[in-house]
Amino acid sequence: MVKLAIVYLSTQGSTRMMAEAIAEGARQKHIEVRVDSFYEWEPKDAASYDGIAVGSSTFYYKMLEPISKFLDALIAEGVEGKVGSAFGSYGWSGEAPVIIAEKMREAGMKVIDPVLRIQYIPEEKDIKECQRLGKDIAIKLKKLVTE
Ligand SMILES: Cc1cc2nc3c(=O)[nH]c(=O)nc-3n(C[C@H](O)[C@H](O)[C@H](O)COP(=O)(O)O)c2cc1C
Repeated sequence: MVKLAIVYLSTQGSTRMMAEAIAEGARQKHIEVRVDSFYEWEPKDAASYDGIAVGSSTFYYKMLEPISKFLDALIAEGVEGKVGSAFGSYGWSGEAPVIIAEKMREAGMKVIDPVLRIQYIPEEKDIKECQRLGKDIAIKLKKLVTE
């Protein structure tokens, strides 16, 4: 079965809500999903999945150091050709998901559009958008594997 890893950093739960909704959407398309905070993941494990979605909220116009280090470790495991997705809640500038997507592209990942950013706490329409992204990731993963 095609597998999606969803890794996030969330301080107050907003990016976590996005991660859970992406997982729900992907599971509706019958793929295997593990969604957990970055400190519960080993970079090596996450790198073994077919698709990897990484989410972070924005602090001081970037990602916090721990998730940035995690992402670097994940990329160092070798992720070329894998499907990537970047997302995160933000307040006013929202750089973190954009930086994640850039790093993924530089590492040779196929990054799915959109890089999904939600301002503060996701509302119902935002949750639907996250579920939609989860479904799109699943469809793309299945297509790549059967190609
Ligand atoms: C100390 C601090 C710094 C922040 N810096 C930024 C920032 O530079 N840009 C931005 O868009 N949001 C910034 N935010 C807002 C958070 O990204 C926002 O509250 C987000 O919803 C938190 O999501 P989380 O609960 O998933 O961590 C900051 C918040 C705090 C508390």
